Amino acid sequence: MKVLVIGPGGREHAIVRALLADPHVSEVHAAPGNAGIADLVPTHAINGNDPREVTELAVRLGVDLVVIGPEAPLAAGVADAVRGAGIPVFGPGKDAAQLEASKAFAKQIMAAANVPTAMARVATTEAEAAEALDAFGAPYVVKDDGLAAGKGVVVTEDREEALAHARSCFEAGGQVVIEEFLDGPEVSLFVLSDGRNVVPLAPAQDFKRIRDNDEGPNTGGMGAYSPLEWAPAGLVQEVVDRVAQPTIDEMARRGTPFVGVLYCGLALTSRGMRVIEFNARFGDPETQAVLARLRTPLGGLLLAAAKGELDEAEQLTWARETAVAVVLASANYPDKPRTGDKIGGLKKAATVHDVHILHAGTKLEDGKVVSAGGRVLAVVALGADLEEAREKAYESVGLIKLDGGQYRRDIAAKAARGEITVPYSASGLQPEVAP
Ligand code: AMP
Ligand code: GLY
Repeated sequence: MKVLVIGPGGREHAIVRALLADPHVSEVHAAPGNAGIADLVPTHAINGNDPREVTELAVRLGVDLVVIGPEAPLAAGVADAVRGAGIPVFGPGKDAAQLEASKAFAKQIMAAANVPTAMARVATTEAEAAEALDAFGAPYVVKDDGLAAGKGVVVTEDREEALAHARSCFEAGGQVVIEEFLDGPEVSLFVLSDGRNVVPLAPAQDFKRIRDNDEGPNTGGMGAYSPLEWAPAGLVQEVVDRVAQPTIDEMARRGTPFVGVLYCGLALTSRGMRVIEFNARFGDPETQAVLARLRTPLGGLLLAAAKGELDEAEQLTWARETAVAVVLASANYPDKPRTGDKIGGLKKAATVHDVHILHAGTKLEDGKVVSAGGRVLAVVALGADLEEAREKAYESVGLIKLDGGQYRRDIAAKAARGEITVPYSASGLQPEVAP
């Protein structure tokens, strides 16, 4: 099988790497890719957000499957165009991708499908915003309704800051969703779907803030680990039964079947599991950690989803090890990331046992790898437990030289110390690890 992967980031590097390990995948191409991806497979310098350019490339290469990584091409209708040319696509069409592109739409679907989520109100004026903020009280949660790469959400105790965020969204011509605050640990669960059937992957946890102890502004994600030893037994099944399957059914009922990965961003609160958000694609950097453990060949799985055949998929198999991914970001990320800095020590960093390096914002300049984006790369380590995986990941990232580079020192640290507690047990089952 020949596969084309669309996207420029670490998630796509992880997908390409996993596809190359699938014995049924004979050839992988990527567009546009990055310096790390170009080391593995041919890359094509097209605009990956352009439906026509992607379709032309897929047809020209004669691929059997197109896998779309990021949200922007999905929202732009790239999947619809490629599907229209008769090529199987892993990734939802524009209508179904609204589950991520519009938070207000996602809330409507959740309400219709009876999916547990935060109470929310849509506001289009400052007066409406103020009323909603006061209705829910502090901490305040204000979300830009459109795509914002994980950076359009403000969670704050400060009512003025919350209102100011809403105001800036209105000034940009948008609307906001204001929500009740959800306490409790967060979980990312990726659920593959062919439009009818669902297959969950292993849960992961992501680290959204730029600095240790969850301080500083939100980013696209600074690290991840999987699986979650502390998660209640039955959590994955609960998410399938109460969130993923009802959502997939509701999308199908509306005539906009969702084919791809439904990323369920969840909070395990004192009142039970709640959806924080849906995304219409794999998470970045959770994918880097999750795919490092997946032993079922990825190509077959994604093709089955694209062709509506996930009901024939076999039980997934996973490595016993734990995976930890630590993101190295450039100077000034997430504000105005500086690019064009040389990245040194990559070869040495890759020699650490059970470690691999996945590029995100990198490119080749005069034969040298330089930074080209906010999140530059992720170091992914497998270990017998979280402690061992963390040790290896941090040994490796410490060998990489990037001027002004930033990474968090506490990825998976709380979990490794056994400090994460879940304030409820899923489906009334006892937690695997006592809270
Ligand atoms: P989102 O883009 O909706 O995933 O939000 C980004 C981050 O903001 C989430 O990962 C949470 O850490 C935080 N967040 C979003 N919604 C809520 C909420 N209702 N309560 C508490 N934290 C939230
Ligand atoms: N890691 C968060 C995201 O992919 O949106």
